[in-house]
Amino acid sequence: MSTTEARATGPAPGGRPHPRTSTYLWLVGLVVMLSGLLFGYDQGVISGALNGIEKDFSVGTFLLEVITSWVTLGAMVGALAAGAVADRVGRRRTILLAALLFVAGSLIEALAPDAYVLVVGRVVIGLGVGVASVAAPLYAAEMAPARLRGRMVSLYQLAITLGIFVAYFVDYLLTHSDNWRVMLGISAIPGLLLLFVMFPLKDSPRWYMKMRRRPDAEVALAKVEPDADVADELDRMRDALDHEAAQNTSWGEVFAARWRRPLVIGVTLAVLQQLTGINAIIYYADKIFAAAGFLSPASQSLATLWAIGAVNVVATLVAVAWVDHFGRKPLLMTGSVGMFISLVVVGAMFLKMKHGVSATDTVGPGMVTLVALVVFIASFAFSLGPVVWTIINEIYPAQVRGKGVAVATAANWFAAWLVSQFFLSLVSLISETGVFWLFAFFCLVTYWFVHRFVPETKGRSLEQLQAMWGDEDALAAAVGSYRSSTP
Ligand code: BGC
Repeated sequence: MSTTEARATGPAPGGRPHPRTSTYLWLVGLVVMLSGLLFGYDQGVISGALNGIEKDFSVGTFLLEVITSWVTLGAMVGALAAGAVADRVGRRRTILLAALLFVAGSLIEALAPDAYVLVVGRVVIGLGVGVASVAAPLYAAEMAPARLRGRMVSLYQLAITLGIFVAYFVDYLLTHSDNWRVMLGISAIPGLLLLFVMFPLKDSPRWYMKMRRRPDAEVALAKVEPDADVADELDRMRDALDHEAAQNTSWGEVFAARWRRPLVIGVTLAVLQQLTGINAIIYYADKIFAAAGFLSPASQSLATLWAIGAVNVVATLVAVAWVDHFGRKPLLMTGSVGMFISLVVVGAMFLKMKHGVSATDTVGPGMVTLVALVVFIASFAFSLGPVVWTIINEIYPAQVRGKGVAVATAANWFAAWLVSQFFLSLVSLISETGVFWLFAFFCLVTYWFVHRFVPETKGRSLEQLQAMWGDEDALAAAVGSYRSSTP
């Protein structure tokens, strides 16, 4: 079951004048924040660790790519399994499991005697990332009262970018020593903190109700919403759950012809979000800056920290504030144009550097590359970064939402793996210029796909969106440019 499903069927706010935000709810917020931070940290930290790993284990390009990218393979498996696990053992125990995976994975990484054990650590961390990426927003959506639900889920997005920033900062502090073991191992601390914060908390009232444990649901709801009419809200929750149970569908239904359009749109957006290169840049930022002429590891780290890490956080803040104002399509289309232009410039700068920098150049190509990457990250962070996830959580009809979101999420991790696994090899095959122009090409594909096939979801209720898939006129109106073809 997905985040939005919880949002769509959870309890109504109830119209009380000034509901208090309980301390308990702050702790739930902390759980969400820590899960997102760990997710971002474990993704971002590898950028600064690669140099030291390369020296200590003298690994070649392929193994270096495996060490970088297998986090995403673990995450793909973790995300696919997490929905079922969270339904069976509860959201709380699933998040505890993710925290244990984070701690175990960090320790395996930090103590790895060789590159192969390090890969095992990366996969274990990846499983934690995947499990947390499903369970934490789900727990947040089910614990938060409706008035805070959207903000609680955005908090998760923001925490991921903050995690990447913190990872880059730790990398920067430790570059002089190349101490990759500390860089990777340090995430055991927020992992332990997540265990401690989560342990005393209750599961979500919705999960208790699903398990027919009403007394537990009463205690949990009274803790998060001290002012709520508990009996009334739980009755409403039970009705929604009964309705949902009647609609429970098999995996076959997710792939049925009548849901082909939302499935294709969700999966294509998820894949394009990765094929436009974001994680090649997040993971290999230091190496890209090194190739762009930032000679010392400290200057590479600094460029990564501010140009990629900080810009990502700030632009995500802007997106969270504006996504409902501008709508999804304009943000996605503007973002892909910004990403296209900046990638073309980065590719051109690498071409120029290959042919030697002319004495008449006043601004070095390294600097231009840095500025272009800032534009790229900012364009991604206010568009494809958060908006793709918003759309994926909106477009599936209730019957197939949970499984539809799981398929799109797994496709996203798979594409992330493809890009990070083959980035360095592709660079040696077709050069930096070739790879960045390939990413740029996928920005054009994204623009075209969004323009032609993606319906605007802003301001439409989930029920209206669901009805749209069977109504050509409504769909045409939502897509705008839609004619008669199907994706
Ligand atoms: C993407 C991640 C990426 C992150 C960067 C997310 O929307 O799904 O793959 O690392 O943005 O901020």
